[in-house]
Parts: sequence; structure tokens; C-alpha cells
Amino acid sequence: MRVALVPDVVRRLKSKQIDVLVQAGAGEGALLSDDAFREAGAQVTDDAAAVWRSDVVLKISPPSEQETGMLGQGSLLIGFLSPLGSPATTTALSKAKATAIAVESIPRISRAQAMDALSSQSNVAGYKAALLGAENMGRFYPMLMTAAGTIPPAKVLVLGAGVAGLQALATAKRLGARTTGYDVRPEVAEQVHSLGAAWLDLGLEAAGEGGYARELTEQERAQQQQALTEAIKGFDVVITTALVPGRPAPKLVTAEAVEGMKAGSVIIDLAGETGGNCELTKPGENVVVHDVRIVSPLNLPASMPEHSSQLFARNVLALLELIVDENGALAIDYEDEIIKGSLIVRDGEIVNPGAKSAVERAEAS
Ligand code: NAI
Repeated sequence: MRVALVPDVVRRLKSKQIDVLVQAGAGEGALLSDDAFREAGAQVTDDAAAVWRSDVVLKISPPSEQETGMLGQGSLLIGFLSPLGSPATTTALSKAKATAIAVESIPRISRAQAMDALSSQSNVAGYKAALLGAENMGRFYPMLMTAAGTIPPAKVLVLGAGVAGLQALATAKRLGARTTGYDVRPEVAEQVHSLGAAWLDLGLEAAGEGGYARELTEQERAQQQQALTEAIKGFDVVITTALVPGRPAPKLVTAEAVEGMKAGSVIIDLAGETGGNCELTKPGENVVVHDVRIVSPLNLPASMPEHSSQLFARNVLALLELIVDENGALAIDYEDEIIKGSLIVRDGEIVNPGAKSAVERAEAS
């Protein structure tokens, strides 16, 4: 389990006149003891209510209803709040008259790179996905020339070459696999090549807003699925990471494509949280269909809690540096592009258009 602050960052916050209160045991899952937090200058408490009444509350995953209820008037909550996927969280925050920043909505601009928690956590997920591919396959990644014969390198295909996909390509390559990347954003081809991977070109482009992909039309989707069904056949491992903000994960790998793969091949589907990129994925499970193993881990960054916590805490530090003045007091510039993009609720008012539409849709249905 991850934790939103690590002792190193606590030290940095203390040097900026910021007092830190840590809920007892919060770092346990990341092997960070209460004593380590104390030594860094934090006050550790068993009193959850006191923690939730702080001026700024840091938490990685969306809060439960009970936690939201404990938020103090005027407290600022920072964390992954799933504004497009979890309207219930936004509604609860609004009812609690809270102010909240969703880190996944921080614009992907260069000034905000150090705060980009989506990227830091996707990097962990991509790395782990490549390892899971190796672990779940009864074959080697690298080419081996041994006295007992030569083993060809495994062929790894990564569908969706965003942050997680690129890290999966890089990791599989380091382990000796022959790698290929695919995406609907054509500008990614260069990045895929720079990682020593081949580019699978299906002649389909779907760049959307803010650097993200848009959802494909019905016709494009059918065209893509058909082309991928052919292409996938020759791969030992297929890692899928394709996401479209606020939408169900695009189905790239059909049941027919799985049937066409060699027995013993592996699919690692990182899109399980929004339904999966493969038609046969069972989110959170490891299943075998048509002799192909389909693994869909949920919350993969949490399986590497030490580094994912450290990176998240650094992201938070960068964000706090933007919103805290030299005396350690909150001084939020609501006109700042980063704040405008990521502020979901302000004193109970839902101010983010995406979060607002998600809530309206949920109320209408
Ligand atoms: P993501 O997690 O939203 O999606 C993963 C990948 O799936 C994306 O590359 C997307 O194009 C692809 N995808 C979506 N639908 C697909 C489909 N039907 N078929 C195949 N691929 C599909 O993406 P992520 O990793 O969050 O990156 C989003 C953007 O943010 C990128 O443009 C990236 O370069 C940019 N970025 C910018 C940073 C900055 O500070 N300037 C830092 C990190 C990322």
C-alpha cells in the first residue's frame, strides 16, 4: 500500500515552515515506520479526525464517505479523486463544502511536470507490466545461445504508448525482448523508435485534446480491431495500456484475436480499472482462455509501494511549493493554469467542467 508522504519530503516541508501530521501506521505498507516520520519532524497521531482537519490533507486514493465527512471547513484535499470516473466522490466533497485538487487533472504542461502524479504512477505500472509479462510466460524474454540450443527472443507488443506503455517497452527491451509499440497518436512513433522498438502502423490516427487520445468512431474501432487481430498473432506477450479520459477503456483485443495467439502467450491488461482493453479480460483476475493467460492487475503502482510513494510524495511537494507561501501558509492562486485545471471543488462548489458533467450525467441516470 502506498502513502502520500515519505520522511524525506516531510523534512523538505518542515524546512518550508509547514507542520506535518501523519496518521499512525500510514506508511506501514511502504515500509515507512511512524518513527521514521517522527525523526523527519512529523507529529504522528492516532486521531484520524485531527489529521482530516488539517489545512491540507494528502491522500493517494479517493476518500471514503466517512473520511470526506471528517474534512475540516476550509481544508484542502489533494489526491487522485477520479473526477471523471467517480462522480460520487465529487458530490460527497461538494456536500462537505470541501476544496479539492485532483492530481490526475493537473494539465500535462512542462511547468507541471514535477507534479505529474499520473506519469509517476504510470511509470511504475508500465515497468511492473513488463515484469508480469515475463513472469506469466513459460518462455524467456532474451535470446539465449546455449549448449542445449538457441532460444529466440520473445516478441512483446505494447498497445497504447503513453507513459506506462513507453516504460513497458523500455523494460521489456532491457530484459532482451524484441519490442513493438502501437498507438493512435502518431507523434508517439518517434518515442517508440527511440526505445529500440518497432512501430506498428495501422494507418489510424485519433489524437484528442490535451495530448490525450480521443475515442474512436464505431467504424474506426472495427477497423482497428480487425487489423490488430491479424497483427497480434505473432506476439508472445501483449501489454495493453490504452485509455481515453472519462471513457470506458477501448477494446483493442477481441476474443478472436486471443484465439489466434499461440498457446502459452500472455496478455497483461493495464486498463482493467475502466473495463479492460481485451474483450476477455476479467479485471483484477488472472485467467486462461484459449490457452492464453490474461492478467489484469488493479492498482499496479501499489504493488511497488516504496518507489511509488516516494514519487507521489515528490509530486505533492512540487504542487505544495506552488500553493504555499514562504511562511508555510496556503496562498492559492486560483487563476493559475495548473490550479484551474485541477481544482475540482472550491468551498463546496464544483468548479471543474469535466467533474460537473460527470455528476450531472450520474444524477440524470
Ligand atoms: P493515457 O494513460 O491517457 O493513455 C495511454 C495511451 O493509450 C495513450 O498514449 C493513448 O494515446 C493511447 N490510446 C488511447 N486510445 C487508444 C486506442 N484506441 N488505440 C491505441 N492506443 C490508444 O496516456 P498518458 O500516458 O497519460 O499520456 C497522455 C499524454 O500526456 C501524452 O500526450 C503524453 O505525452 C503526455 N504527457 C505529457 C507530459 C508533460 O509534462 N508534458 C508528461 C507526461 C505525459
